[in-house]
Amino acid sequence: MGVAGWSLYQQLLWGCSSPEASRARISQIRSDTVDADIDGIKLTVVYDNYPYKEGLHIDWGFSCLVEGLDETILFDTGRFDDQFMANMDRLHIDPHRIDRLVISHDHPDHIGGTMKFLASRPDIDVAVVNSFRSGFKKAVQKRGASITAIDQPRVLTANTISTGEMKDFIRNEHALLIRTNLGLIILTGCAHPGVVEIVERAQTITAQEVLLVIGGFHLLADTEPDIRTIASRLKALGVDYVAPTHCSGGETRQIFATEFGRKYLDCGVGRTITARDLRLV
Ligand SMILES: [Fe+2]
Ligand SMILES: [Fe+2]
Repeated sequence: MGVAGWSLYQQLLWGCSSPEASRARISQIRSDTVDADIDGIKLTVVYDNYPYKEGLHIDWGFSCLVEGLDETILFDTGRFDDQFMANMDRLHIDPHRIDRLVISHDHPDHIGGTMKFLASRPDIDVAVVNSFRSGFKKAVQKRGASITAIDQPRVLTANTISTGEMKDFIRNEHALLIRTNLGLIILTGCAHPGVVEIVERAQTITAQEVLLVIGGFHLLADTEPDIRTIASRLKALGVDYVAPTHCSGGETRQIFATEFGRKYLDCGVGRTITARDLRLV
């Protein structure tokens, strides 16, 4: 890519920042974060429309808990607050153990349990993309929590990074990037800006190999050839494991299971993923 092309690419990625400012931001993000030890990491799907573990509510939406990092992070809060809190309880997740809340995007099936969660854990930071409704942000702050409004890619904790707000005509969104010594874990809500685009941006920010992409891939309405193309593109980008769930679609899950083989992780509510699942040969 020529200088002009690179500059345009950077502008598309980072908005109005100059290429120099973008490069400086990336190198700062890389130096301000460290790899977490994969052996301590545990992901737990708290809310999902796909079943996995018995005894939990199955409903349209997504939420995932990330443990074993410098901070325990809850990503999204599902659709219905009572079902979300009941699943938390049944999975023995005490809200007081959670240090930070990250909400992927402003859709009801990703934010529904937020206020009830904050009622029991108000002194917490909630990271949202800038374009979230101001009413939601105010309601969060009214409950005693702080808001981090995300525009550019930024460090959230020593092991985690937000992709920054990625534009999409359905809804702007950010994804959570978790640095580990085995590679990057990418957590998506609905992946409205495109799962391939999210992985590309994650690699631009971190320059790390991608160990796992987990969450909604938003391919429900895509045709079989398009889904196959997306699976191939993810493989070409070096994505090792995939766990498509929530709005990924049944056909997507079948195709990805075939394409990724043992490195396709069947996902649904109550699924936990640890290092043992990510060290297959
Ligand atoms: Fe969704
Ligand atoms: Fe969505």
